[in-house]
Amino acid sequence: MQGLSASSKLSLAVLVVVFLLSLESSASAAHSRRRLVSDAEDEPCNKMTLYYHDILYNGVNNTANATSAASTKPTALSTTHWKNGTYFGTLVTFDDPMTVGKALPAAGEEPVARAQGFYLYDKQESYNSWFGFSIVFNSTAHKGTINLLGADLMDQKTRDLSVVGGTGDFFMTRGIATLQLDAYEGTVYFRLKMEIKLYECYV
Ligand SMILES: *[C@@H]1O[C@H](CO)[C@@H](O)[C@H](O)[C@H]1NC(C)=O
Ligand SMILES: *[C@@H]1O[C@H](CO)[C@@H](O)[C@H](O)[C@H]1NC(C)=O
Ligand SMILES: *[C@@H]1O[C@H](CO)[C@@H](O)[C@H](O)[C@H]1NC(C)=O
Ligand SMILES: *[C@@H]1O[C@H](CO)[C@@H](O)[C@H](O)[C@H]1NC(C)=O
Repeated sequence: MQGLSASSKLSLAVLVVVFLLSLESSASAAHSRRRLVSDAEDEPCNKMTLYYHDILYNGVNNTANATSAASTKPTALSTTHWKNGTYFGTLVTFDDPMTVGKALPAAGEEPVARAQGFYLYDKQESYNSWFGFSIVFNSTAHKGTINLLGADLMDQKTRDLSVVGGTGDFFMTRGIATLQLDAYEGTVYFRLKMEIKLYECYV
């Protein structure tokens, strides 16, 4: 801008301001959501606690109840190199019920949401996994999805997944979900407590 005179600098500045104002007004005319952002960890703009129930197919007699199943076999690397087998490379697909309380819904009752996606065992030496899934809401209370992904570092008591986006009631949201093992029964069932805190909300 060195070559510009003071008056042309001023008119350029006015032009930029007018342009930004017109962008702003056309944006707010197009929709009416307000963006809430919080950078205080203990002050999310929305939060909820949900329980995730993973009922694994046991390969025998629970086809009616199972909500998840291995979609791949462990890799040859895992089964030949590691004698103890850590499922390295196994991908499990799930369509799991999610509830507000700890109990599974009684027969005929709808869960509050479903968790749909996969986890993948991704460590050779020990059990460790990676999650990618959506929490799908389709009730009178909520419609839309919250999309999560990240490392499930299984040797830690709690682990954080990223909430990378959302749709519907959770339009464009972002946040953190803290996972914790809450109960398990052998290799056929486990329940995770998920504390979901959203730090970017469009309301
Ligand atoms: C289902 O199969 C499992 C594993 O083989 C067995 O422990 C269980 O008793 C069986 N349950 C029924 C109801 O048959
Ligand atoms: C499915 O679950 C119901 C209730 O939890 C139980 O009564 C039934 O035995 C289960 N069926 C199988 C095949 O596991
Ligand atoms: C599997 O075996 C390796 C060594 O062969 C060991 O370092 C690792 O701790 C074992 N993992 C489990 C889960 O037992
Ligand atoms: C959502 O619920 C409605 C009403 O129960 C049903 O018709 C529809 O198929 C459901 N949609 C999904 C994606 O499950």
